[in-house]
Amino acid sequence: MRNIDEHTITDAVIARFDGCADARLKELLSALVRHLHDFARETKLTEAEWKRGIDFLTATGHITDAKRQEFILLSDTLGLSMLTVAQNHRLAPGATEATVFGPFHVEDAPNFDAGADLSGGAPGEPLFVSASVTALDGTPVAGATIDVWQSDEDGYYDVQRPELDSPRARGVLRSDASGSFAFRSILPVAYPIPTDGPVGQMLVATGRHPWRPAHVHFMIRAPGYETLVTHVFRAGDPYLDSDVVFGVRSSLVADFVAHPAGSGPQRDRVAGRYHTLDHAFVLQPAAPA
Ligand code: BEZ
Ligand code: FE
Repeated sequence: MRNIDEHTITDAVIARFDGCADARLKELLSALVRHLHDFARETKLTEAEWKRGIDFLTATGHITDAKRQEFILLSDTLGLSMLTVAQNHRLAPGATEATVFGPFHVEDAPNFDAGADLSGGAPGEPLFVSASVTALDGTPVAGATIDVWQSDEDGYYDVQRPELDSPRARGVLRSDASGSFAFRSILPVAYPIPTDGPVGQMLVATGRHPWRPAHVHFMIRAPGYETLVTHVFRAGDPYLDSDVVFGVRSSLVADFVAHPAGSGPQRDRVAGRYHTLDHAFVLQPAAPA
């Protein structure tokens, strides 16, 4: 085929996928080409702008490594992550809502016994979490695996601190026979996503702030149930309505109750001010294979 022009090129490219044996791959690539071409036509994309886009994606690749995932950050800040989560987790009434995974989960975090302190010495006011995992009908889910991860009071995850060589403020717990789990950690605070890369440049160029409201991440896995990737957000946070990655759901906002020194259920364990969070997670059954 010759003499392809701006009107015929889209069909010409899509036709090249005719021989693709993988029907889903063919569908995805064809739609991607259609939307990319429509984007270029609609915006009358210039060659200089195309080059700027290539440079941006190149820089995104260069800054990405095992600990820094700038492509996920880009997907998050453009709303693609939350869109994908939302359309893949249509929940039964009562089930806990899912939200973005984010770039700071680490495989094989250390295991902790019930009630243990998983802060690992990370700076922050003490937080005591007590939670339950149940099925939609209220049946306790025993033996669920619960991954927890969060930032410290400076707004950093352990993986963002090059001086650390062991995990902090993250860990894996199991729910007990009554579906409960508990741990000690630190109070999460609002933090900016990393802004020293191309995504940060994009936020500055578009006048956007980089902040996420305070939250703790949870991933809960149990046989027979859909894996739940979610957060619990801290009520009252000023960024709940402008999360840079669009991840807040009202049902995930909870009270982190402050207890003045010498008061409340943990007054004998801590000297100063501390916080408690009681939370219930509800899993829905795994979709049939
Ligand atoms: C996080 O909550 O850890 C996160 C999510 C998306 C982008 C950056 C950070
Ligand atoms: Fe986070």
